[in-house]
This record gives sequence, structure tokens and C-alpha cells, in this order.
Amino acid sequence: MKVNVLLGLQWGDEGKGKIVDYLAPQYQVVARFQGGPNAGHTLEFDGHKHVLQQIPSGIFRTQVKNIIGNGLVINPVVFKKEVESLLAKFAIDLNQNLFISKKAHLIIPTHKVLDAALEQLKGDKKIGSTLHGIGPAYQNKVGRLGLRIGDILRPNFQEKYQELVYQHQQLLANLNYDYDLATVEVGFWEAIEFLKKMNLTDTEYLINDCIQSQQSILAEGAQGSLLDIDFGSYPYVTSSNTITAGALTGLGIAPKHIGEVLGIFKAYCTRVGGGPFPTEQENEIGEKLREVGREFGAVTGRKRRCGWLDLPALKYTAMLNGVTQLLMMKVDVLNDFEEIQVCTHYELPDGEVTDRLPYCLNDVPVKPIYRKFKGWNASLAQIQTFEDLPRELRDYIAFIEAELQIPITLVSTGPDRIETIIKGLKN
Ligand code: GDP
Ligand code: IMO
Ligand code: MG
Repeated sequence: MKVNVLLGLQWGDEGKGKIVDYLAPQYQVVARFQGGPNAGHTLEFDGHKHVLQQIPSGIFRTQVKNIIGNGLVINPVVFKKEVESLLAKFAIDLNQNLFISKKAHLIIPTHKVLDAALEQLKGDKKIGSTLHGIGPAYQNKVGRLGLRIGDILRPNFQEKYQELVYQHQQLLANLNYDYDLATVEVGFWEAIEFLKKMNLTDTEYLINDCIQSQQSILAEGAQGSLLDIDFGSYPYVTSSNTITAGALTGLGIAPKHIGEVLGIFKAYCTRVGGGPFPTEQENEIGEKLREVGREFGAVTGRKRRCGWLDLPALKYTAMLNGVTQLLMMKVDVLNDFEEIQVCTHYELPDGEVTDRLPYCLNDVPVKPIYRKFKGWNASLAQIQTFEDLPRELRDYIAFIEAELQIPITLVSTGPDRIETIIKGLKN
């Protein structure tokens, strides 16, 4: 059985959590492959709203095995809180349903301090990091200094931890950054003990055994392709490979096992944090998108920057990921717009018109060229089939499909599980 991948095609927050939760009953395994607590995946069902940061979004479906892959960086304190908040409301058997890779890396308290210190150093060139210590933890991973989840089971863990903290202290002293170690370490050791009681295992074997025994698997991405460390708007990116290739290294699966690639995007665009955003609307349009779409960070509460859909960027990320189906989210947010705009091309400073991304959007101020669509000016609340969607919306969908040459097989009309319309979605 093939592994399907679901990932964001924009700058994150496309609605991955909602759709993974919606699709999970059709899968036996849901596996996160990168990122960490910088993610905030929102799920809504039966009047409950839940935000997951490190736990895969299949956790509410009792028959699904959830895997936290080796590609993640995990904060044990955040993990403990996440688990406790789940168990306070739901009867979930984590022994049966949750498996954590021993090869995932650990975020320790001083990683968070370093994140804050390095952001401060950047002044007005701040990335706008979530300050969860993601960058420093991945730096230590590739710098071959990191601590892994499996290390917490070893007798010398305390010693290895102290060695890494010492290195961080040296760096922080060089940066003249003021912090109190004892304060930032509060809850850390308790959380490590908590984590030790989980299923910590070699998940690359687990997932390949599942593939061999024909179990269906959905790999869940975090962030979005425009935040990818290699292909995103560098340096305004996160520190992991958020694209399909990241699912291979972040779970330990071979390319031949990849099946459908479900690329998820909003009917408009948002971005949180710094960096280029060609179609951003710093005006009443952007404010309306933010208000109607409730575009505030799921974990940080930060205002998300809002703008129109960007097709050159979407074509780029569909290409990088090998997207086979597109899932279009938050169309209801556009219900009350008289006119909807879509960027089809960029005009470069020398006058050239292109639908390709320049090497560096930070240095090349592109001018978006828009195509205008008539809005549908109608509520989608009662609509359950694609055919019943307003004609103007179907035209908008058909235009995007034709531009990308990829079918849109799911349209989301609200945050709840049930506000989802399917059009030939393939598993
Ligand atoms: P993720 O990080 O990709 O999982 O997305 P987030 O959870 O950070 O942000 C998506 C937000 O949009 C959440 O508040 C969801 O509840 C909400 N949402 C998801 N799909 C829809 C939709 O179709 N319409 C509306 N109005 N909200 C949606
Ligand atoms: P989900 O999975 C939106 C952004 C941050 C910042 C940059 C780097 O919910 O879609 P980091 O903390 O990774 O060093 O921040 O990336 N960012 C996200 N934006 N959704 C996310 O995750 C994000 N995770 C990181 O705002 O600009
Ligand atoms: Mg999010």
C-alpha cells in the first residue's frame, strides 16, 4: 500500500489539521514527518476546538496509529501539556495510538533561549520565529551535537544534557543575552520522565512494517512549502524540509512508496512572521480577510498577514511536491467579496512578465498581475455537493485547476469536520 502525503502549499496554516482529522478514518496510520511545536493544527468537531502542535492530527480517531517521525524536533514540556489537555477531554489510549521516533531530536530549554537571542540580534530582519527553539534544535541536529529522544532512556542522559547546555551557555554569553537557566528549566525534567513512559521506538521499522502489511498511511506535513528550508523564501523560512521529500527522510520511507500527494491551499493567502509576500493586501481587503477568516495564529495568537491567491507561488510548490490532488480551503471566507482577485503572473523590475518565482523574492520586488473574478455573494452553509456550489465559485475553481493542471478534489467551506465537500478525492 502506498503512503499518501498531505502538506501545505503556501506559508502554513492552510487547514492541514482539519483535513487530516477528516480523512483519518480512511487510514490506519497518520504520521507527522517534520517541524515541532511551531505548528498549530486546529481541529473542530462536535462543538470542540482543539489545537495540536506535535501530536499528529489522527489522534482523535481511535483506530488510527499516530506516529511522530524522526524528522521532528520535540519539546517535552509542550508534549506533556498537549497530552494532558487531550486526556482531560477524551478517552484516548496513547499506548495503542501514539508512537514516537527515538531518532527525533529534543528541544531543550536553552534552544528556546537561543532562538530568542538570535532573533533579537537580527533587529529589523527578524524571521518572526515562533520562538519555540526550532532553528537552534535543527542546527544542533545537522551540527551533530543534538540530543535525540532515544537518549533520554540512556544512563548518561543527564551528562549529555549538561554538555549541550554548557555549549549553549557559552554562545549566550557571547551574545550578551540575559536569562535565568533555572527559570527556563522549570518543568523540563518532569516532562522528560513523562516522555519516557510513552512508546519510544524505531518508527522507521514500524512504518515500513505497516507498508509491508498493506496498511494505509497518511503523512502529515507541518508549516508550508514556501517556508521550506531549501525552496522557501530564504532566510524567512523554517528549518526543515516541509515538502514531499521531507516525508521520506522524516519517516524513513523510500520514494517508491509515495502514492497520492494532497496539496492543501487557502482560496487566498496568509503569512505569519517576516519575509516577502507579493500579493499581501495591507488595506481593508487584507483586514476583511483577517477578520472573516479569523486569521490569528492558532498557538501564538499573532495576526496573520493576508492577501490574494498567488498562482506563480502555487505552481512552484505544486511542482516541488509532485502534487496529484489539490484541496482548497476556506472558500467561505470569500463569500461576501464583490470581486476576487488572483495573481497569475509577476512583473519583474525590468518589465519582464513571468509565472516563475525569481531566485530571491526579498531582493526582487515583483509586481503581481491580477485576474479579477466576480464574487458569489452567497452563504455556502447548507451546501453539501460540488454541483450545488455557486457558479462563480465553480468558475474560480475551474480556473485554478486549468492553470495548475491538477484537479481540486476537496473544497472546505468551514472549520468543522462536516463542512467539507468532496469531488472525486482519491486515496
Ligand atoms: P494548519 O496549521 O494548516 O492545521 O491550519 P491552522 O489550524 O493553523 O489554521 C487554519 C484555521 O482555519 C483554523 O482556525 C481552522 O479551524 C480554520 N479552518 C479550516 N478550514 C476552514 C474553512 O474551510 N473555513 C473556515 N472559515 N475556517 C477554516
Ligand atoms: P503550521 O504547521 C505558519 C513561520 C513563523 C516564522 C517562520 C520560522 O501550523 O502551518 P520557526 O518557529 O519555525 O523558526 O519560524 O515560520 N511558521 C509558521 N507559519 N504556520 C506554521 O505551522 C508555522 N511554523 C512556523 O511564523 O515566520
Ligand atoms: Mg497552523
